[in-house]
Amino acid sequence: MLLRIPNVLSDEQVTRIFPTLLAAEWIDGKATAGRQSAQVKRNMQIREGDPAARAAGQEIVASLERNALFVSAALPARIFPPLFNRYTEGEAFGNHVDNAIRRITGTPQSIRTDLSATLFLTPPDEYDGGELVIEDTYGVHQVKLPPGEMILYPASSLHHVLPITRGARISSFFWIQSMVRDDGARALLFDLDLAIQRLESSLQPGETLPLTNVYHNLLRRWADG
Ligand code: NI
Repeated sequence: MLLRIPNVLSDEQVTRIFPTLLAAEWIDGKATAGRQSAQVKRNMQIREGDPAARAAGQEIVASLERNALFVSAALPARIFPPLFNRYTEGEAFGNHVDNAIRRITGTPQSIRTDLSATLFLTPPDEYDGGELVIEDTYGVHQVKLPPGEMILYPASSLHHVLPITRGARISSFFWIQSMVRDDGARALLFDLDLAIQRLESSLQPGETLPLTNVYHNLLRRWADG
């Protein structure tokens, strides 16, 4: 499932956070890439553990925990501390897969990357190119979103970032371990949750209770974390 999640950050948050990121310590993006990805990755990233990045990341995670659409779709068990990248003219990230397991730097913890997320922070009119291109069973999708909006997609997808031909693109990217490992099962629960919410507005109180019971019993059956 490919899902666009609006309003992860408000305009006020983006406006406040953006300059702190610009002033942070930027290093070669190959720092967090695996051996194969490093060969096709040309961008910069903020050093992991940089105070500005850590503060911005915590604000993103706090916003996500309050975002009903994200929680329903991702059923998050763990969220990787958000990273930040910048693509400038001529930079790109060729086709690659994200590592299945990622150690959280500086901790003994690791997460299984069920879902990948990219949160766009630069207004789209400030750069050309830089689309995130995701391949799934429904074809190829090109994604470029306004600041504060996020795309959520299965980490199992092949994906790449097209070269920037003008300006620069700064985004946050990270991974989510879901309580429900299987993408299909998670998608069913999301559809069921949305359907129940729609029915609640037209039915009498209590009439959707048996469906809500089915939802929670499926979640109980499928949740592994
Ligand atoms: Ni990737």
